[in-house]
Amino acid sequence: APSGPLLGRHVLVTSGPTHEPIDPVRYIANRSSGKQGHAIARAAAEAGARVTLVSGPVDLPDPPGVTTIRVESARDMLRAVEEALPADIGVFAAAVADWRVANAGGQKIKKDAGALPELRLAENPDILATVARRGENRPPLVVGFAAETEHVIEHARRKLAKKGCDLIVANDVSSGTGVMGGDSNTVHLVSAAGVETWPTLSKNEVARRLVAHMAEIMAEMVKGP
Ligand code: C5P
Repeated sequence: APSGPLLGRHVLVTSGPTHEPIDPVRYIANRSSGKQGHAIARAAAEAGARVTLVSGPVDLPDPPGVTTIRVESARDMLRAVEEALPADIGVFAAAVADWRVANAGGQKIKKDAGALPELRLAENPDILATVARRGENRPPLVVGFAAETEHVIEHARRKLAKKGCDLIVANDVSSGTGVMGGDSNTVHLVSAAGVETWPTLSKNEVARRLVAHMAEIMAEMVKGP
């Protein structure tokens, strides 16, 4: 029989990069591999949760036991997230592109047109902040990520307030740490309760511990203070 600390819970996870089209054959993207987000989705399923994973384009298999919805752009991702709500826990691990191309073309831009193409950028919706600040259908536990290259904890504290989430998983992605695309991660959990720093662990182990931590928070919410 199914069991686990997240049995009966719906966990929504975003993962991977987004691709923002320039024209039908070109796009803007970033270096996110999706490894951490996918590992969290898998660990949540192993903890008994029903899991919806909304993933940007990645080279990873769909995690077993998880409903995976593949999207391309930030706006597609927001739409899929809204459709997947309500959820008990939202984990926003995707590296969403901050900007999209406002004047993306319906046809391939030709090199021989004489002038260089001018790309105008528009700001993408902030999926985490949009969900965390909803009055209706806000998951009781909203977790964001912060990839920083310096002043990691300070920036995470500010992000917690700015985005309106309950917990930030902050990691140092400065060059040389090998976090981007790598298999291990050093994270700090930043919440109103304070800062907890974990040793360097595999992304799978970070996922398992994070899922256990979230299950504890949910259990405490039920019990009350
Ligand atoms: O602002 P920044 O990109 O550093 O914030 C990172 C956190 O916000 C991550 O949890 C990421 O998934 C989320 N985010 C989002 N939508 C965006 C930008 C970031 O959900 N457009």
